Amino acid sequence: MKYVLASNWKANFTLQEAIEWFDKVDSFSSNLGNIRIVAAVPYPYIYILLQRYNKVEVFSQNLSHVIKGAYTGEVTISMLKSVGFRGSIVGHSERRHIFKEDDEIINKKILILQENQADIIFCIGETLEQRESGKTEETLYFQIKKGLEGFNSFNNLIVAYEPVWAIGTGVPIKIEDLLKIENFIRNIFLREYKVNDLVLLYGGSVDKDFIKLIKKETTLNGALVGSASWNAHNFIQIIGNFIS
Ligand code: PGA
Repeated sequence: MKYVLASNWKANFTLQEAIEWFDKVDSFSSNLGNIRIVAAVPYPYIYILLQRYNKVEVFSQNLSHVIKGAYTGEVTISMLKSVGFRGSIVGHSERRHIFKEDDEIINKKILILQENQADIIFCIGETLEQRESGKTEETLYFQIKKGLEGFNSFNNLIVAYEPVWAIGTGVPIKIEDLLKIENFIRNIFLREYKVNDLVLLYGGSVDKDFIKLIKKETTLNGALVGSASWNAHNFIQIIGNFIS
């Protein structure tokens, strides 16, 4: 079983804060066996963090859907590869909702990552409105099918189920609901792609207590953690609670 604990920094941290976080988390992350520790960091820090540290895997939080050319402000796959990044988050709900990225754009990014043998943390999740109108399963199904059109590099894929209504609210999903959705997603991958060892994470207000529940009550492979991971000590505690 592969495990992943990922910290999503979002638009936070100065370079100094980034280094202080890595000083603590990277040294804690040696000898964790089959547990991958990932930090999805802002673009400007990727290169320097990779020069200094080697235990925590450095991911980007996004990448451009264009390859190169006259696209002011875009950060492309070749730029990211040339600084040695390991992979990227794609389809985070903040990208989908605030920056209006649709399934087609997300699919392009996923195929670009596939072509370049990079790892992908592919985020899916329903909004509160979709949940309340009974459309959770339908939403997840279509996000998966559209996002993964033409995709087959499942060894590079990590899926993060992140219900939009649970992100940044301090209230994670109920564990019994999470179990049902874990089954639902695993069944889709088994049925549609013949994948029986999907690396599946939960994200949305994970903290040091909820990670224990995930470990105890589900067969998820870990978590994608936002605000509770921004303090290095808290993230180390989350990792510790997942291990023990
Ligand atoms: P949160 O964010 O842990 O702060 O809810 C999770 C995420 O957005 O990935």
